[in-house]
Amino acid sequence: MEPPLCILVTGGAGYIGSHTVLQLLLDGYKAVVVDNLDNSSEVAINRVQELAGDRALNLSFHKMDIRDKPALEKLFASTKFDAVIHFAGLKAVGESVEKPLMYYNNNIIGTLTLLQVMTAYGCKKLVFSSSATVYGSPKEVPCTEEFPLSAVNPYGRTKLMIEEICRDIYSSDPDWKILLLRFFNPIGAHPSGKIGEDPHGIPNNLMPFLQQVAVGRQPKLQVYGTDYSTKDGTGVRDYIHVVDLADGHAAALRKFSDPKIGCEVYNLGTGKGTSVLELVSAFEKASGKKIPMEKTGRRRGDAEIIYASTAKAERELNWKAKYGLEEMCRDQWNWASKNPKGYQNEDDVVN
Ligand code: NAD
Ligand code: WQD
Repeated sequence: MEPPLCILVTGGAGYIGSHTVLQLLLDGYKAVVVDNLDNSSEVAINRVQELAGDRALNLSFHKMDIRDKPALEKLFASTKFDAVIHFAGLKAVGESVEKPLMYYNNNIIGTLTLLQVMTAYGCKKLVFSSSATVYGSPKEVPCTEEFPLSAVNPYGRTKLMIEEICRDIYSSDPDWKILLLRFFNPIGAHPSGKIGEDPHGIPNNLMPFLQQVAVGRQPKLQVYGTDYSTKDGTGVRDYIHVVDLADGHAAALRKFSDPKIGCEVYNLGTGKGTSVLELVSAFEKASGKKIPMEKTGRRRGDAEIIYASTAKAERELNWKAKYGLEEMCRDQWNWASKNPKGYQNEDDVVN
């Protein structure tokens, strides 16, 4: 029997990373997580181990910053990685505007360090977490992978730059296989309610904010803009269940066995647009909680309407999102109600 393939997952303790690591373990891979726990908790790793049952033995965790080149080299020297899934990075748009150097340092230097060490150790398969943010405010929808790219904030620029760096690396050395996955808006949690999103500080994104209003950690939701040219005047996004996103990563790893693959881009979304008010209403239904709302002005830099064309991922990755809004909200609420303080206090978990 072939030994299991070994995947390095940077940022694997985070929201999308933890769900993906679980999926990899269940699919029979070995997963090595490196994370500096800047926006996550080691409890997430323990919970993934719990959920993985016997397969937990195939998971190891290293608290490490990917900018620490000697530490990364030591890891690559001791382990042969078949591929790397790179989630590690900072992701808060507003914070990136306030602290651009911190974002360029973490996201760009972190990625360069990783790519240098991968090159040195001959590991040339990478899956990178890009974002729908690289489409800026698209002129039309759905967004196909060929749309023009733009960025309106430092966070988005780091994603654009890293995509370009990857394209340059591939054109300099066609032995590389690089999959750039552009995630739309991940929400929801594992159906067990054991792992989910637990952002540090006040959340910027709609769903984690909604969740905190529902559990009483925030008084009300501010709806940013009610005068857009959309079905009800509020912004439209493509929300995707985080478990579907994890599944998309498993599909990406399978794609590496295609000899024709070079550096490719794929959207990971559902292809469906949902307005802010529609999401609030689906969440109210799932949670049985009324969400107090205040309609306010538009948030600077927000796109009016954005959702994915899913055709390329369906055709070439053989992957399609399975879950709808109802399941996303159900699983989000299951996680929120079982872990009202996130991973903060293990004893608070309601079984
Ligand atoms: P997250 O913050 O939960 O996970 C990122 C993880 O990376 C965290 O655990 C953090 O501690 C770790 N990390 C950050 N800098 C690091 C460093 N220098 N060294 C080691 N670890 C480091 O975020 P997420 O939502 O799981 O996002 C994962 C990736 O997907 C990010 O690159 C993000 O930009 C991208 N993305 C996220 C979304 C979204 O809406 N959540 C959408 C599109 C793309
Ligand atoms: C969704 C909708 C808001 C909060 C961001 C990043 C993007 C990507 C995903 C990483 C919009 C509205 C929000 C609130 C609101 N992340 N809203 N009240 O803006 O699509 O994208 O996360 O790559 O890069 O920019 O997501 O969840 O912030 O907003 O009315 O308190 O909810 O205006 O219409 P967004 P979001």
